[in-house]
Amino acid sequence: MNLDCKSLHSTGAGDCGDQRALRVRAPSRAREEEEVTCPHPADVEMCQSVLPCHANDRGQLGAGQLLKWIDTTACLAAEKHAGVPCVTASVDDIQFEETVRVGQIINIKAKVNRAFNTSMEVGIRVSVQDVLTGVLKRVCVAYSTFVVKPAGSTKVRLEPVEAPGAAEEQLEHSLASERRRLRLYNEEAFSRLMQDCHLLTGVSNGNCGALKSTESTKVESIELVLPPHANHHGNTFGGQIMAWMENAATVAASRLCGSYPTLKSVDMFKFRGPSTVGDRLVFKAMVNNAFQKSVEVGVRVEAYNCAEWKQGGVRHINSAFLLYSLSAEPQRTQAFPDVTFTTKDGERRYLAAIARKRIRLARKHILSSKEEGSLSVPWDKSNQVYLGYNNVAALTVLAGKQEWEMNSVQPKVRISMNEEQDTLSVKVEMDVEAPAGHVFALLSDLRLRRSWDKHYSSCEEVEFGDDADERVYHIKCPPINADGARDFVILLSRRRPCKEGDPYIIALRSVTVTAVPPQVGFTRSEAMCAGFLIYHDSPGSCKVSYYNQVTSGVLPYIAGNLAGWSQSLEETAASCIAFLEKVSVKTTTL
Ligand code: COA
Ligand code: ADP
Repeated sequence: MNLDCKSLHSTGAGDCGDQRALRVRAPSRAREEEEVTCPHPADVEMCQSVLPCHANDRGQLGAGQLLKWIDTTACLAAEKHAGVPCVTASVDDIQFEETVRVGQIINIKAKVNRAFNTSMEVGIRVSVQDVLTGVLKRVCVAYSTFVVKPAGSTKVRLEPVEAPGAAEEQLEHSLASERRRLRLYNEEAFSRLMQDCHLLTGVSNGNCGALKSTESTKVESIELVLPPHANHHGNTFGGQIMAWMENAATVAASRLCGSYPTLKSVDMFKFRGPSTVGDRLVFKAMVNNAFQKSVEVGVRVEAYNCAEWKQGGVRHINSAFLLYSLSAEPQRTQAFPDVTFTTKDGERRYLAAIARKRIRLARKHILSSKEEGSLSVPWDKSNQVYLGYNNVAALTVLAGKQEWEMNSVQPKVRISMNEEQDTLSVKVEMDVEAPAGHVFALLSDLRLRRSWDKHYSSCEEVEFGDDADERVYHIKCPPINADGARDFVILLSRRRPCKEGDPYIIALRSVTVTAVPPQVGFTRSEAMCAGFLIYHDSPGSCKVSYYNQVTSGVLPYIAGNLAGWSQSLEETAASCIAFLEKVSVKTTTL
C-alpha cells in the first residue's frame, strides 16, 4: 500500500534537513554534510551534548529532560512563525526508539508544518549522534500543537505557512489537517471505547498470581514554578511540566516493578489550562494497569497559588499517561507483577488503561502499518477516524508523487502514469465547467457513479460514520473479459478545503464490514488507494484529478486490454465530465 509508514514517518517532522542528517555515517562525512547544508529559515535546531546532569543513575538521558528540550525547540519554531508568545496546547503520541547515553549528541529539529487559526502544528525530529562512530540514529518523531498567547487580550490569527516547496513539506502540510482531526477526536474516541471497556469488567479483572495493588504505587510530588521554568511572560513551559510529570511517573512505575523502568511512549495529551510563575504544581501519579510488557502510569497535575489555596481551590491543568517497559538488562526481572485495584477509581482507571491501549494499537496499526496480504482492514465505528485518516493520507501521498509521465492529452482530459518499483498508478486530470462545491457533492455520492461509469453495475451505501464524511459502499461490477463479476467494499472519506487553495478530497480504499460478507457469484476485489482531488478554478469551473493505484483487484480492468485501457479511461473521464456539467447546470437552474 502506498501509505508506507516508514516513509511517512521518515518525513514525519517535515523538515528536509532530516534526511540529510540521517544519511550521515562517519564524523568526517558529518562535517562534510554540515558544510554543504544550510537549514530552512523557518526551521529551528537545537544541539545538546548529553552530560551526567541530564542523565539518570544508569547514564541514560532522562526522558523528562528530552521532553523539555523537544518542547523548547518546538515552542521556538512556533514563536518564530507566530511572532508572538505561544503555549503548548497538546502533544501527540511519542514513541522513543533509541536510548541516549552520556557523551552522545542530541539534535532536535522543529518546524511549523501548518498554521490553522490560532493554533499550529509543529513537527519535531530528534536524532542522536555517537561522537566516536559518527553514527546517527532516530530517537523519536513528535507533533505538538501550539496556540498563540499574545500579551493582553489581543486576538491573533496566524499567517499561513509559506507555500511549502519540497514535495515532503507539501505532504506534511496536507497531512497536518488530518492529524488535527485525530487530535480533536481523541477524547471522544476514548469515551466511546470506555463504553466497550465496561463490558470487559469480568475479563479484565481476572488477574491471578501475586497481585499488587495499583494504589500501593501512588506518588505525590510538589514543585514551585520559578522564573527559569517559564517564558518571559511568566507562562510555565509545557516541557518543564512534562519533565516533572515523567519524574513522578517513573517513581510510580519503579514502585511496581522493584526495578528501573524505561519510558517507552507518552500517550497523546492536552494541556487543559495554563500555569504561571508562583504556582505550586502538585503531581499525582500511580500505575493504572500492567500489561505483559508494559505498564501504564497516569499523572494528574494540579496547580494553585497562595490565594487559591486559601479559598480551597486547585486548577486541574493536565493529565497524561506514560508507558514504561522493563530495563533490557538480563539480570533484571522480565515481567511486571499482575496488578489489581482496591477502589472504584482504581477499577475505572484499570479499565481506562485497557481502552487507551486499544486506541494506541488502533492508531499505530492503522496509521503506520504497511499491510501485507489482504489490503482491506475492518472498518467499524471505533476505528473510523483512524481509517479515514489513513484513507485521506494515502491519497495525499499518491497525489504528491512527482514522477508522472503524460500518457495522453485530449481536450479537457489528460492521463498520466507513475511507475515505481512494483506499483503503477494512474492520474486522470479533467477540466470541468461546474463549480468545485457541486462537483464535490456529486462525486462524493458513489451511488451516482453508475450514471457515468460503466464499470459499476450497482452501488449501495452499507455503513456510515458519525459524520457524513465517512461512508462505506458495496459496489458490484459486471464481468470483464473471461473473469466473473467482481465486487468491492469501499470506504469513502471526504474532506472540504481547510483553507483557500486547498482541494476538496474524496479518498477511496477497500475495507471489510460485517454487513457485507463475500457474495456468491462475485469475486471480492480490493482497491488500495484511489480518489479525487477537486481544485476550485473559477466560480463556474474546476479541475478534477482522479488517482488510482493499480492493485490485483483493479488489474483485470487493465490487463485484458492494455492498449485500450487509456482509451477506456478517456471515455470514462469524458462521461464523468458530461455528467457533472449536466447535473450541475440542472441543480443551478432549479
Ligand atoms: N489539540 C490540538 N489543538 C487543540 C486542542 C487539542 N487537544 N484543543 C484545542 N485546540 C486548538 C483548537 O483547535 C483551536 O485552534 P484554531 O484556533 O487554530 O482553530 C485552539 O486550540 C483554540 O481552541 P479553543 O476551543 O478556543 O480553546 P480551548 O478553550 O479548548 O483552549 C488552549 C485551548 C490550549 C488555549 C487552553 O486549553 C490552554 O490555555 N491550555 C494551556 C496551555 C498552556 O499554558 N500550556 C503550557 C503548559 S501549562
Ligand atoms: P482519570 O482518573 O480519569 O484517569 P485524572 O485526570 O483524575 O483522570 O487522573 C489522571 C491519572 O493520574 C490517573 O489515571 C491516575 O493514574 C493518576 N492519579 C489521579 N489521582 C491520583 C492520586 N490521588 N494519586 C496518585 N495518582 C493519581
